[in-house]
This record gives sequence, structure tokens and C-alpha cells, in this order.
Amino acid sequence: MNMIAKAIVGWAKRTPYFHLHHADGSVYMGRWWLFRTPWLSARIHHIATPDFDRHFHDHPFGFVSVILSGWYVERRPTSVDPCFDGASGRETGVIAHRRTGSVAWRRCTDRHIIDRVSPGGAWTLVFVTPKRQWWGFYTPEGKVFWADYPIMRERGQAPGTIHSEELIDSQQSHTTTRERA
Ligand SMILES: [Fe+2]
Repeated sequence: MNMIAKAIVGWAKRTPYFHLHHADGSVYMGRWWLFRTPWLSARIHHIATPDFDRHFHDHPFGFVSVILSGWYVERRPTSVDPCFDGASGRETGVIAHRRTGSVAWRRCTDRHIIDRVSPGGAWTLVFVTPKRQWWGFYTPEGKVFWADYPIMRERGQAPGTIHSEELIDSQQSHTTTRERA
């Protein structure tokens, strides 16, 4: 990580957000605030592991991400309307290798999944727009609210990461979350 990136990460680490974990308790993504306003916020994310979900997900907000250190492999759909492989139940997609220095803009409705992450994880600077929708996973049965997706996993329909901390996220306002951090 270069000096500027180190300085940005060091500054952000003074204001942790809550981190996301896998079902086994291991860290999926570390998150820290750089600044927050009603119009635009910025965080540092440390993507420790790939997404282990079967299906693509979208996001509650649009964002711009800049990779400060490391890399990850992102898979994105090939069509606007989801198109699923009959055998695997997975949506077809194309792979993009995002390396240090790459910048990406994603609308809240854009869906993706992270397939691989560099050893030691990837550090990203993320500019976040205000929340605009409920986010979820795109399955052959339609978009599934993120909080219902673990239920699908329990039924064996959608094995993967459990974003249990997101349950907390949805129940807290920005202000409360900051106070918690
Ligand atoms: Fe994502």
C-alpha cells in the first residue's frame, strides 16, 4: 500500500463502522468511515474474502469504489434481465479483474458477486450515495430481500455467506450507527 493510501486508511480507522462476518464468525468485510453527509459519504472497506453466495446481489445505494491495495475478481451479469443456467441455478456473467488503482461506478440496481480476493484482502475507498432501495439477491424465483436470503440458505436453496450484521444495519439510522461505532 502506498503512503497516501496508508494515510487514508489510518485516518479512517479512527472511526470504525461495524464489520461484516461470515456465519463462522470470520470477518468478511472490515469497514471504517471517512466522512458522512446526507448527500455523500465515504468509507474504507477491507474485503477479506470473496462472496460465498450463489446469486448476484445489488446494493441499497450507488457507489464509486477505488482499489487502494490488492485486487479482486468481480462477476457481473451479461444481461439486464437475469438469465440463469438451468443446471447450476447461477446467473450467467462475465469476469472482471479489478486491480490496485482501478475505479468503478456501480448504480444501486447493478448486481454482482466477488469471486476471488487477493491474499491479505483488498482495501477500497468507497464513496456512497444515499440509500435508494432495499437490496437483495437475484434468484431464479426473483429478487429476494437480503434478510430472507439466509432463510433460503437454511432450506438449502442458497448456500453462502450470511450477512447477519446487516440485520443490525437495517435497524439503525445513520446517526445511531455512528454512535454505536
Ligand atoms: Fe456487492
